[in-house]
Amino acid sequence: MVKEKEIPAVVLKEVSKAFQQRNGRLLPVLTDVNLQIAHGEFVTLLGPSGCGKSTLLRLLAGLDTPTAGEISVFGSPVRGPHPERGLVFQDPTLFPWLTVSQNVALGPTARGLGVRREEVLQFLERVGLADFASAFPHQLSGGMAQRAALARVLINHPRVLLLDEPFGALDAFTRMDMQNLLRSLVAGEEITTVLVTHDVDEALFLSDRIVVLTPRPGRIRAIMPVSLPHPRDRSAPAFLKLRGELLRLFAQAQEAGREGKAGRLTNAAG
Ligand SMILES: Nc1ncnc2c1ncn2[C@@H]1O[C@H](COP(=O)(O)OP(=O)(O)OP(=O)(O)O)[C@@H](O)[C@H]1O
Ligand SMILES: [Mg+2]
Repeated sequence: MVKEKEIPAVVLKEVSKAFQQRNGRLLPVLTDVNLQIAHGEFVTLLGPSGCGKSTLLRLLAGLDTPTAGEISVFGSPVRGPHPERGLVFQDPTLFPWLTVSQNVALGPTARGLGVRREEVLQFLERVGLADFASAFPHQLSGGMAQRAALARVLINHPRVLLLDEPFGALDAFTRMDMQNLLRSLVAGEEITTVLVTHDVDEALFLSDRIVVLTPRPGRIRAIMPVSLPHPRDRSAPAFLKLRGELLRLFAQAQEAGREGKAGRLTNAAG
């Protein structure tokens, strides 16, 4: 019998996605994405704006379906959303008429599961929001709202955490705070994480591997393992060396995308 741990947490097999445009033409957004993510691994997707990163996360979340290829999570094909795959967006999307506690309790409550007050408090504590349980979203700072959004997803005990630029709207210091928090939340847990970010330092601080995508249609151009021990020092020479390498890979991916486009145009003309 195959042990569950031997099956990768996430498998993307030749995944492509194209959207139908208003003019009837297809817009290819992702092409032939092949990726396996191990249990508990932290993988970051890095790529230019519009290359299909959010689309890829939405496919993993089961909010949309690939045009071609297959996606499976823990050995089962993704057929739709599931609480075991928690998704956090750049915007915390809390309900303004509910308190922080009520927002956090929403998932289990909506699924008809009882959720104890202590359990909600325990998750609020984990994200450092215990004192704001009865506050309303408008009384929170951006960072605090994003902490609440994390607690709201974590209370569902996700096995896969999908994060779409979760700290993109925050200032640099709050962002670093949130990166430390995220690290503490997933370290030692059986959570597999896929993060989308534009921030090279964030990617290097958190990830086991960084996937560099080309411009649209997004393809995997390079995968960079980051084997630095945690906690990582953003100013350490080893960190800065990898940073240089990552920026180089990113530039190469941009270039490859441009060449790809030029190639296609030439082919179309010829
Ligand atoms: N539902 C949709 N219908 C049509 N086109 C879409 C749809 N969703 C995304 N697209 C197109 O797919 C492309 C990729 O979008 P996506 O949001 O995945 O990019 P991204 O890499 O997340 O960009 P950013 O870094 O700016 O968030 C864009 O050109 C976008 O216009
Ligand atoms: Mg996006």
